Amino acid sequence: MLQILTISVMMLFEAGVSSPFASSGLENQIFQYIDLHQNQFIESLKEWVAVESDSVQPRLRQEVTRMVELTADRLQSLGATVELVKLGSQKLPDGQSLLLPPLILAELGKDPQKPTVCFYGHVDVQPAKKEDGWKTDPFTLTEIDGNLYGRGATDDKGPVLAWINAVEAFRALKIGMPVNLKFIIEGMEEAGSLGLEELIKAENQHFFSNVDYIVISDNLWISIRKPALTYGTRGNTCFFVEVQCGERDLHSGTFGGIIHEPMTDLIALLGSLVDTSGRILIPGIYDDVASLTEEEKKLYESIEFDLEEYKNNSGVQNFLYDTKEGILMHLWRYPSLSIHGIEGAFHEPGTKTVIPARVIGKFSIRQVPHMNISIVEHQVIHYLEDVFSKRNSPNKLKVSMSMSAMPWVADVNDPLYTAARRAIKTVFGEDPDMIRDGGTIPVARTFQNITRKSVMMLPIGAADAGEHSQNEKISRHNYIQGTKLFAVFFLEIGKLHRQLQEASNMKTTN
Ligand SMILES: *[C@@H]1O[C@H](CO)[C@@H](O)[C@H](O)[C@H]1NC(C)=O
Ligand SMILES: *[C@@H]1O[C@H](CO)[C@@H](O)[C@H](O)[C@H]1NC(C)=O
Ligand SMILES: *[C@@H]1O[C@H](CO)[C@@H](O)[C@H](O)[C@H]1NC(C)=O
Ligand SMILES: [Zn+2]
Repeated sequence: MLQILTISVMMLFEAGVSSPFASSGLENQIFQYIDLHQNQFIESLKEWVAVESDSVQPRLRQEVTRMVELTADRLQSLGATVELVKLGSQKLPDGQSLLLPPLILAELGKDPQKPTVCFYGHVDVQPAKKEDGWKTDPFTLTEIDGNLYGRGATDDKGPVLAWINAVEAFRALKIGMPVNLKFIIEGMEEAGSLGLEELIKAENQHFFSNVDYIVISDNLWISIRKPALTYGTRGNTCFFVEVQCGERDLHSGTFGGIIHEPMTDLIALLGSLVDTSGRILIPGIYDDVASLTEEEKKLYESIEFDLEEYKNNSGVQNFLYDTKEGILMHLWRYPSLSIHGIEGAFHEPGTKTVIPARVIGKFSIRQVPHMNISIVEHQVIHYLEDVFSKRNSPNKLKVSMSMSAMPWVADVNDPLYTAARRAIKTVFGEDPDMIRDGGTIPVARTFQNITRKSVMMLPIGAADAGEHSQNEKISRHNYIQGTKLFAVFFLEIGKLHRQLQEASNMKTTN
């Protein structure tokens, strides 16, 4: 017995997973428990990774459902009340209908004195095959040099389990939970979260009515080493610009030189959108962009971002900006316009002397606070019609917006963020990078827009975790420290919430 204990303590030492920054006895007790049980937590992750819960391929739908049920069992064994909500079915491109996996709504604790924190995660994964270039079997969690390789290790089975492990530590140590917990866990995230938004709407007055805070752990740090908190994502608007001259494609030997060619019009239109410095030329487009405050500017200074590595990863030598701040701000807090393609254009190798009769240009504008999508739509259409009218072309122009998603930004001074910052400082010994995402992750915006609660994205995976990619992994360090992070976060948000309540009670009595 004694010998076994010595061995596991030595293993801890080797893995370097001690936590020298813990400030209280309670925290130390929790950390010790988590350190001692790390192999057991990894064993759970191994069991979960072994389920090929790929939501993209219809033939694996059974496995997704099995994974959701496994998760439900796990939550139940923590003492949670679990409901499996049926979401109906989806229509496949071939017309067949396929049952969606159920979604988990779970609840643990109902003490009105404590805040209620709702956790969102997903247990489905992206497709993966060994032949795609994996070093190990994607569905056999394999540890190599302190990294746990396997599909879903970081996206998102590892974080969901880290949350569960944290609750388990409180239970095993018989420490009262400082918060009430709710869980919303889906199995269709990688296939567009089918049914999620409708469910949130339907449950807004029920499941979400007593939720105070929503936490999403489904993204990555921007650094390999330094933890991060995410407080914003960009939205998007996608446009089609169609120019048509007639019904049939023509030959340039028979018609070249005597007609207004649609492609020439379209290239001029697309060429009028952005200047050589990346600035969007559509009048008024920057009018509603939030101005940069001193407070926000300061958040960028301490971010750990390796510009050279970012360039290496892109294979591009020169960017439009050459400072960290310039690059991150233009990825996160300013709009950008990208041209994606032209439908109807000749694009194969070789030569073809065709004049396409109808071409559709496709571009998008990434949205940031506080741009208004219907105003952007109007500005784009108005501008392109104006540019076109100056060309005196008899061709037909049609501009339309095909898709839109709003940006999301949170208040970094919200108690949710304060508590998470404190927890990160305790577990990792440093302040997090305060980051945003240049892409669109609709879930945060959806939660915020419908429930009006404060929302935070609290990632535990490092920048090199390779989500969606070959050799996806989470390091043992990130998985175990992530588990501690969630446990300390429960303590911090519980404490902060109590203090806020006391302060507001004092105000009412005075
Ligand atoms: C970027 O690539 C260059 C050339 O391959 C290499 O020398 C350098 O170490 C790389 N830098 C980083 C940060 O990856
Ligand atoms: C966007 O602008 C339109 C037109 O001015 C206005 O009706 C709408 O309320 C605005 N939407 C938001 C979210 O501010
Ligand atoms: C926000 O929620 C309202 C009410 O549920 C809905 O009508 C609107 O489409 C939502 N907007 C976004 C961008 O999700
Ligand atoms: Zn994910």
